[in-house]
Amino acid sequence: MVEIFGCVLKDGNAAPVVHSALERLEHRGYDSVGEATVYENKLWMKKDCGTIDKVHARHDLDDLPGRVGIGHIRWATHGAPLKENAHPHVDCNRQIAVVHNGIIENFAALKRELEDLGHVFGSKTDSEIIPHLIEENLKRGLPFIEAIRETINRLEGSYAIAVIYAKQPDKIVCVQNQSTLTIGVAENAAYIASDLSTFLPMTKRAVKIENQEFAVVSDGKYEIRRITDWSLLPREPKLIKWTREKAEKLGYPHFMLKEIHDQPSSIRNALKSQDQYLDLITAFLDRAKEVFLVACGTSYHACLASSYMFSKLASLSTHPVAATEFIQQQGRSINIDSTILAVSQSGETADTLAAVEHARIQAATILGLTNVVGSTLTRVSRAYLCIQSGPEVGVAATKTFTAQLCVLAQLALRLAKKRGKVSHVEIEHLEEKLEQIPGVVETILQTQEDRIRKIARKYRDKGFFLFSGRGINLATAFEGTLKLLETNYIPSMAFPAGEMEHGPISLVEQGFPIVFICPRDETYEKIVEDIREMKDRGASIIAIAEEGDEEIKALADDYIEVVKGVPEFLSPIMCVIPLQLFAYYMAVERGLDPDRPRHLTKAVTVK
Ligand code: AGP
Repeated sequence: MVEIFGCVLKDGNAAPVVHSALERLEHRGYDSVGEATVYENKLWMKKDCGTIDKVHARHDLDDLPGRVGIGHIRWATHGAPLKENAHPHVDCNRQIAVVHNGIIENFAALKRELEDLGHVFGSKTDSEIIPHLIEENLKRGLPFIEAIRETINRLEGSYAIAVIYAKQPDKIVCVQNQSTLTIGVAENAAYIASDLSTFLPMTKRAVKIENQEFAVVSDGKYEIRRITDWSLLPREPKLIKWTREKAEKLGYPHFMLKEIHDQPSSIRNALKSQDQYLDLITAFLDRAKEVFLVACGTSYHACLASSYMFSKLASLSTHPVAATEFIQQQGRSINIDSTILAVSQSGETADTLAAVEHARIQAATILGLTNVVGSTLTRVSRAYLCIQSGPEVGVAATKTFTAQLCVLAQLALRLAKKRGKVSHVEIEHLEEKLEQIPGVVETILQTQEDRIRKIARKYRDKGFFLFSGRGINLATAFEGTLKLLETNYIPSMAFPAGEMEHGPISLVEQGFPIVFICPRDETYEKIVEDIREMKDRGASIIAIAEEGDEEIKALADDYIEVVKGVPEFLSPIMCVIPLQLFAYYMAVERGLDPDRPRHLTKAVTVK
């Protein structure tokens, strides 16, 4: 995950402009930075890993000549955060520099093809194939713009790309497909940015580059074309009224809400996990004698849900353990035959790392699932997977939870396939359903948000909430509880619906709010009974139910609809969306800032 920026100035040096634009995004915590400019038919470049401050202190990012420049800050997904993996990437002759945001899915095949033609690669990124492909097309005699167009035709995946070329030092060429890219237009300059908040201090006039479009940007001018038929697309700049802070949140009032809405796209990214790494971790899980799923907080809830996935799909029994309890509970039994799958968004949670370290010393196999390549977890793991969500700013984890679930679901499916536990037809069906999950989440966001806001308003003064579910959605209930209590400071608890009679039922009185997560899975009949029982005792029921479920609707005081026909192992991904929104709108209704919950930090890195 990255951000890209570029500028073409009429006068002056581009490098300090690029540097300060990237600095505006620095607080999100990127791990590498780089800039390139063109001057006197030569390419100039500086890049390294580390924060912008550190890289600037080492290299002086302002000291590059030329009025045309591009820049990039990186959150590693393909290739570790090393200097060679930082952007821009260049061709063999150092004539073409490219910054790229997105994922090139067919990069491995293209790289092999280019290596056969004699191209030498310096990085492990998917992005580096782009300057080499352009170089190859230039060698074939194509003009610069045509060479880029031809290159784009070979790429599969999502991209926002900006290219500069030593021999055409007056322009930046950009392309966009399933990504975000905007041109900023000023009197004496033009800018391109994946995040328009970076150019708002310089200009408020912006032109969006839409999907499958190509733009050539020079000082104060731009030309946009449709890639498919090369038709010219006249498009006037629009005035952006957002403040920089608001623009950074894409107009949403809080990062938490922005990140909830990011989920169709972050889930799509999570589904692009690289096959070879999924296969590798699957192989480790397959041969493991015992598997512990270890994590804290939201990541632990992902572990809980995945223990159902592994068991039901692949007949693999796993032990989900809160990292804080792992050493006490399991410490002495861990040995060379134990496999630990540690899940951590940050990869730096002290308790998770302590559990991992303990297991490592006992010669256990350590596997990691994280959002931060280069984090301590990736360094201590035998193999790891990245969920590819990009930076999550909100302290309450939202998009990284659903991304974790997606990757864990992919692992469970692969293991099921490898073990022959599910028929090919069924696997194909489930894979298809997994592919549809971003659309399912999108539908819930589009259709249920208003209703959830109203429900939050109705219940905002309640002093206690109970969340309940059965089967895999018990994990969803736990996550709904955590979201509500961390952003609202309302005591809440989650309990398996079947356990209610073993204690929690004594809490229930008139108007006592219980959130039931009840999609139509194999626990459905029982949960309908649970709801009836609570209703009889006066509870106010908020049900997360499938669309068209008239039985639940009739029983519930309030209901939120999720999509029909999503398989059970994927249902937490959709059922948690209403709970995230509920926590968010409760906080807003109660006048709290959901982005800054009291006493909490994004990553708990000390014990
Ligand atoms: C989630 O909303 C919390 N802020 C917190 O519980 C978090 O999930 C936990 O600290 C684990 O963090 P990690 O995934 O970075 O290890």
